Parts: sequence; structure tokens; C-alpha cells
Amino acid sequence: MKKLNGNLVRKINIAVFISGKGSNLLSIIKKSLAKESLFKVSLVLSNKKNIKGLLIAKKYNIKTLVSDFTKSNSKERKVINILKKDQIKLVCLAGFMKILSNNFITLFKGKIINIHPSLLPKYKGLNTHEKVIKNKDTYTGCTVHFVTKKLDSGKIILKKKIRVKKCDNKVSIQKRVLKIEHETYPKAIVKVLSNF
Ligand code: GRF
Repeated sequence: MKKLNGNLVRKINIAVFISGKGSNLLSIIKKSLAKESLFKVSLVLSNKKNIKGLLIAKKYNIKTLVSDFTKSNSKERKVINILKKDQIKLVCLAGFMKILSNNFITLFKGKIINIHPSLLPKYKGLNTHEKVIKNKDTYTGCTVHFVTKKLDSGKIILKKKIRVKKCDNKVSIQKRVLKIEHETYPKAIVKVLSNF
């Protein structure tokens, strides 16, 4: 619950889908814990077990679900039912390395967002930092966007850019972009939820 104009208001339930270390998940959880936060991370779903992100969720007593559901209709149905039962209003993909089915995307139209480590529409897909180095780009950054059936092509919610230094390599860029992802993703979530 949070206070709005002196009244207690229930926080909006969101789910975060992950496949790895979950550093964005952690930044989202931290933002959600602020008293005035609009949202609560009610569910963390991973398609893999034994990943660091799940340990983060457990540390913060958040319900977890391990399911590689994207290629199985029956598993997908189960996940959809859980999202509905838990009254999840927004699904945030944070390093989730699976492609959602058209059915899933249609069902949650306008309710799934993703963070991508490039300045979209530049460099959709994988290996974004390598492409930045190869093309000697002056700027790179991250983008939070709505998820649609076309990969990394949905409406942009928020973008943050950083300058590429002469001495940068793939690893140093990845580190600096990840750092700004951690500020940008929670802001984008608030922006989306404010329009609900
Ligand atoms: C981030 O760079 C994100 O943009 C990309 O995958 C990475 C996930 O990192 N989609 P983490 O698991 O949040 O640390």
C-alpha cells in the first residue's frame, strides 16, 4: 500500500521476466521499495533455474516461477493464468532471452515492456555493443520500449544516451550502458504506469 492524497492506495503489481544475472531486476526492486513507489514486484519469472536473478528475488521475498514456457502452449497457459490470478498489470522483460509467442503478446497488448542495450531503432537483436564499436559510433545507450510481434520495434518509452570514448571496448561499453539501464528502466516503468 502507498499513500496518495492522504489515502491508502494499493500498489500496482508487476512481473519481471529474466534469464540471467538480474541486475536490472535489482534496480527495479529497489525502486519499488520506496514508500511512494507506484508499483510492487509481485512475481519474478525465469526460463532458467540456478541463475543469480532468482537469488535476488528470493532475497527480497518475491514469488518466483521457473518456466521455459515460450514453446509450449500448455506451459504458456499456466503462466498466463498465474499472471491473471496475481493481478499482474505490467510484464517487464529484463534480460529475458526468449521470444514471446504472438498469442502472449496479443493477450497482454500494451502491458509488456523490454529494455534493450542500444539506441533503438539502431541495432535491434543481439551483439549491440560490438556493432557500436565496429561502426565507430559516437553515442550509444539503452532504450525501454513496448513489446510487439516485431523484435525490438515497439513504441519507445524512454531512451538514455552516453558518449562512446576512444578507449572503449565491448566490455567497458557494456558496463557503462548497464549502469544507465539501472536508472532508466525504473523511470520507464513509472512513466508507463502513470498512464494506466
Ligand atoms: C541488459 O543489458 C539488457 O539490456 C539486456 O540483457 C541485459 C540483462 O542484464 N536485454 P541483467 O540480467 O539485468 O543484469
